[in-house]
Amino acid sequence: MGKKINSIYVIGVGQMASGIVQVAAQNGFRVFMMGRSLERTEKGMETIRKNLARALEKGRINEEQYQDTLNNIVCVIDLELAKESELVIEAVSEDEKVKVELFQKLSKICSPEVIFASNTSSISITRLAAQTDRPERFIGMHFFNPVPVMKIVEIVRGLSTSEETTELVRQVGEQMKKEIISVGDNPAFLLNRLLMPLLNEAFYCHMEGVACAEDIDKGMKLAMGHPMGPLQLADFIGLDTVLSILNVMYEGYGETKYFPCPELKRMVDGGCYGVKSGRGYYTYTNKK
Ligand code: CAA
Repeated sequence: MGKKINSIYVIGVGQMASGIVQVAAQNGFRVFMMGRSLERTEKGMETIRKNLARALEKGRINEEQYQDTLNNIVCVIDLELAKESELVIEAVSEDEKVKVELFQKLSKICSPEVIFASNTSSISITRLAAQTDRPERFIGMHFFNPVPVMKIVEIVRGLSTSEETTELVRQVGEQMKKEIISVGDNPAFLLNRLLMPLLNEAFYCHMEGVACAEDIDKGMKLAMGHPMGPLQLADFIGLDTVLSILNVMYEGYGETKYFPCPELKRMVDGGCYGVKSGRGYYTYTNKK
């Protein structure tokens, strides 16, 4: 094959994007972190610095690794710089229109060899790829939150994704020390298809008064051994993100079992997005 990816251009500065940047930089890639403003990228860098400082304090990395990781990251606001990398990973919010616009711009900026990956949690890779000039070099690279902790990446092949693209992206994931699973391009792929109905059922149980939020979460943690209960996890993922994934599943499969709980919709309409907005099923003081 001969080709190797050395540099990655990550678009986004939120919890997923900053996690991807950190893990890539920690594992020897030169990484560009692109945000809409330098203040936003600085927020992403703050999270990364905090995580690395904790890893240093715990002795999981040494001073040199701490410094090398930070030196591997360049914060940018210019999309044109995407042409400097061999792989672009898009990790912006779960909005198909925004993603399509970005990839159309990138198609004009980047040379044809550059691979485009989307960290979408649910949107069709085939459909996104078809909006670019390189469907064979377009792939889904779905990370899990918190990216530095969760050890898996779902690799999603679209209709036209080539073997070479799949192999190169698999190598990138492995260099990031992630386990890779290869999944089909169905709405919500594999892991969110399994997770979202559980979260949705928990919303219904809450709405119907079957139990309070604390008891739903306590029960699922203690009975099932889940690290977080479903309502806490939904707050952590972002209720807006959960709603958009459920909508993609409901529309994509056409099955009422995926219909998003009205309570979830109401909360999102009211600006309750979970941890990031300070209020969801619980309230949070460290608003991000
Ligand atoms: N970034 C980096 N590291 C983090 C972190 C973050 N945001 N949050 C926690 N950690 C690390 C901590 O540093 C800690 O490591 P050390 O003990 O070595 O220092 C370790 O994780 C445990 O953290 P805590 O002790 O603070 O708290 P915890 O034991 O409750 O663990 C958790 C926190 C790892 C988030 C755990 O609660 C968990 O696994 N929750 C479930 C997460 C999950 O299901 N994620 C998938 C979401 S779905 C998704 O992402 C896909 C999608 O498309 C929606």
